[in-house]
Amino acid sequence: MTKESYRMPDGFLWGAANAAHQFEGAWDVDGKGISIADVMLAGTKPWLNGQAPAKYANATAAGLATKHRLVTDQVEEGGNYPNHRGIDFYHTYPEDFALMKEMGMNAFRTSIAWTRIFPNGDEDEPNEAGLAYYDRFFDKMLALGIEPVVTLNHFEMPYHLVTEYGGWRNRKLIDFFTKYTRVVLERYGDRVSYWMTHNEINNQAQYFSDHLMLQNSGLKDYDESDAEELMYLASHHELVASALAVKIAHEVKEKVGNPKLQMANMIAMNPIYPHTSNPADQMAAYRAMEQTYWWGDVAARGKYPKWLLNYFEHHNFKVDITEEDEQILAENTVDYVAFSYYMSNVIGADDNPWIDFRLDKNHFDNEFLEKSDWGWQIDPVGLRWALNWMYDRWDKEMMIVENGFGAYDQLESDNSIHDDYRIKYHQDHVLNMERAVVIDGIPVMGYLPWSGIDMISASTGEMLKRYGFIFVDLDDAGQGSGKRYKKDSYYWYQKLVHSNGTEL
Ligand code: BG6
Repeated sequence: MTKESYRMPDGFLWGAANAAHQFEGAWDVDGKGISIADVMLAGTKPWLNGQAPAKYANATAAGLATKHRLVTDQVEEGGNYPNHRGIDFYHTYPEDFALMKEMGMNAFRTSIAWTRIFPNGDEDEPNEAGLAYYDRFFDKMLALGIEPVVTLNHFEMPYHLVTEYGGWRNRKLIDFFTKYTRVVLERYGDRVSYWMTHNEINNQAQYFSDHLMLQNSGLKDYDESDAEELMYLASHHELVASALAVKIAHEVKEKVGNPKLQMANMIAMNPIYPHTSNPADQMAAYRAMEQTYWWGDVAARGKYPKWLLNYFEHHNFKVDITEEDEQILAENTVDYVAFSYYMSNVIGADDNPWIDFRLDKNHFDNEFLEKSDWGWQIDPVGLRWALNWMYDRWDKEMMIVENGFGAYDQLESDNSIHDDYRIKYHQDHVLNMERAVVIDGIPVMGYLPWSGIDMISASTGEMLKRYGFIFVDLDDAGQGSGKRYKKDSYYWYQKLVHSNGTEL
């Protein structure tokens, strides 16, 4: 067979993705409030065998090898809060965007830091300095021909909403979020067309993780036995808020005359495969997929699936779904589906007919796949599988807004970085995306990998877990010149984009 080569449709978005709290830094500048990311200390990966590989020796020696990101009650003097510094993109964006433009990118995903607009989340009036900052930011991108793709809520809600209101368990959060949404859409809706509400809203399916519960829903200080019910309650409020944001987007679209303006509710897609061909494993994996992607069902189909309503009733979960909520959900389904894709999982059955999928039980390694140093199983074919699965289910256009390989990179003495492992990861995933587009006929709007530039890892707070095509000379303790260097993957991606996908 000749080498496969596929051209993407005209207007395909080739870009990259980042999140404000992971790269902006400037955590207390121009009136910004404290977000949940600002009270997370540095952590490091849960090492696969309890022993850090030798290449991480420096990080371990520097005392950064705590396993989890601890959350403090407030910002404590002397604490290592990596999100406070990010990579200082807040100030360096003009030069960094120039580098991305040179790479050929025509799109870039970031989030608006909610706390720059409403520092505490519950103010009457927005912070004009924060709004003015994103005016300059988006205008710079547009001047370079880079289309902004924007997340409203990417693991960075105001911490005040956690301490004063208990996070998304509180229905009042719907009003705070929709107010913020209206302000930013009315301000930027004439220039920014692609929006999404919550980042990876479905991560909290793993409700036993206090890290994910805080990141997604601002849930803290709860009794472990209440975690699952709280997760459903908070999720419901997030989904209603998201549907109302779709409504606002459609109103603003008319008002500002931007016919391209559209809203998604972003999910993390990791296919879940059955451990064996045993029908019980098949059923467990099938339901595990539903338990992990029902957020997408509600957002795209406008209603809760029956199995889930049964599940709430069976467990006596009070989820507070009103008739008005049902109507809001039904009338305001998302315009497109945005998702991240990194890996896949494998699950086996147990004897619980209600099936409660948790990654901390009934979970297996996939013997056919390799893992990254952080234990994420690398599955390019799963991306094609996932695109087909989602399109069959939701029948919407799709955008890949994250896909990438977290790895340790070595800066050589001539300032080169030979990240062939990252090139291979993207090559294999892009090939499978292209097969889905050309062979399977799936409408994919764009590929925005994680990431154009190195930044702080969300799960571990490390700098050492790098994803970028551009290297940033900073370590886990924030030491380094901060200079930017092009990795080998930078040149590879440049070629791919210039050939519209044909030169893999
Ligand atoms: C996604 C998040 O979960 O994965 C990003 O949307 C995150 O914020 C990315 O950075 C990679 O995860 P991590 O934990 O390696 O940074």
